[in-house]
Amino acid sequence: MPLNHQILLDNRPLGEAVASNFKLVSQPTPALQDGQVLVRHHYLSLDPYMRGRMNDTKSYTAPQPLGEVMLGGTVGEVAESRHPAFAVGDKVVGMGGWQDYSVVNASEPGALRKVDTSHIPLQAYLGAVGMPGVTAWYGLVKIIEPRAGDTLVVSAATGAVGSAFGALAKARGCRVVGIAGGPDKCAYAVNELGFDACIDYKQHLDAASLSKALKEACPSGIDGYFENVGGMVLDAVMTRMNAFGRIAVCGMIAGYNGAPLPMSYPALILVSRLKVQGFIVTEHLEVWPEALKELGMLVATGQLRPRESIAQGLAAAPEAFLGLLKGKNFGKQLVQLC
Ligand SMILES: NC(=O)c1ccc[n+]([C@@H]2O[C@H](COP(=O)([O-])OP(=O)(O)OC[C@H]3O[C@@H](n4cnc5c(N)ncnc54)[C@H](OP(=O)(O)O)[C@@H]3O)[C@@H](O)[C@H]2O)c1
Repeated sequence: MPLNHQILLDNRPLGEAVASNFKLVSQPTPALQDGQVLVRHHYLSLDPYMRGRMNDTKSYTAPQPLGEVMLGGTVGEVAESRHPAFAVGDKVVGMGGWQDYSVVNASEPGALRKVDTSHIPLQAYLGAVGMPGVTAWYGLVKIIEPRAGDTLVVSAATGAVGSAFGALAKARGCRVVGIAGGPDKCAYAVNELGFDACIDYKQHLDAASLSKALKEACPSGIDGYFENVGGMVLDAVMTRMNAFGRIAVCGMIAGYNGAPLPMSYPALILVSRLKVQGFIVTEHLEVWPEALKELGMLVATGQLRPRESIAQGLAAAPEAFLGLLKGKNFGKQLVQLC
């Protein structure tokens, strides 16, 4: 049996997550039972939600157990099969975790899905045509409910979710303004992702300064905001929201390492009659087929070509993950495995 390298959660972070929270181990993959499939992972997805699961605190889902393989989405191919629906060589997506191989009970609903790589690259099923893409779709379509001509803003604009949001919103005739960290990310948002404008929040020391930049980029105000960050960025956007604006609260990454994220202007929710709604994409499985169809079309036709940051080898996963929490990634953060 092939040797399987795995990364376990060894201990929980105290404040900022660090590399010593993780432990690399190796063991042979077990022999398959009837109904099981051995998947060789080609790519592991690194996602901000993993930081929340490293804590043992109240959340929308159970914490990552200590001493077990880190949870995570994977794409790869079937290396061995004792399930009639899967053959060696099939390309599959699943939740294989931070390891080179996984043994999957393939009859479990949703455990393993075959994917077509003839027009869509395999790793896109972890990004634009996967969970992050559907996240953008849900917040845009179901919460922001855009109308052509609306001005929409998204933070972490060049990331996996933000880049999909831009393409989906442009396809609906909206003006789309990104907020991202640094001139390179902002130039990429406008020149390659098709955003109408992008503001580098790192050039602004406080919400008042960022709010001024938003006024210039959004002369008609903001109708919809897709929130990925929290803190100063949310404060600035709130001051520019139009009456009856909609805010889809998708993530607050600025607080994932434990920093408090006070909200400075909650009264604007009342004064501007805002709709502010949080959501978790995995609680809305009913929209996935429709969303994946649209996202697949955008990728296959070249209208959405998101950038990727690819770390090499499983041992590089912890540093790449810690970098993602600090904005070191440029586009979807992946780890290329065997
Ligand atoms: N609700 C759901 O179901 C759901 C599902 C998936 C993802 N999410 C959320 O969606 C957001 C984006 O996820 P993603 O996978 O697309 O990640 P991503 O945008 O590809 O990467 C994270 C980005 O967040 C930004 N960032 C990191 N630390 C920051 C800080 N302290 N202040 C401001 N920005 C910071 C960085 O971009 P800059 O360099 O531009 O700052 C970084 O590149 C996250 O908040 C995630 O938790 C939610």
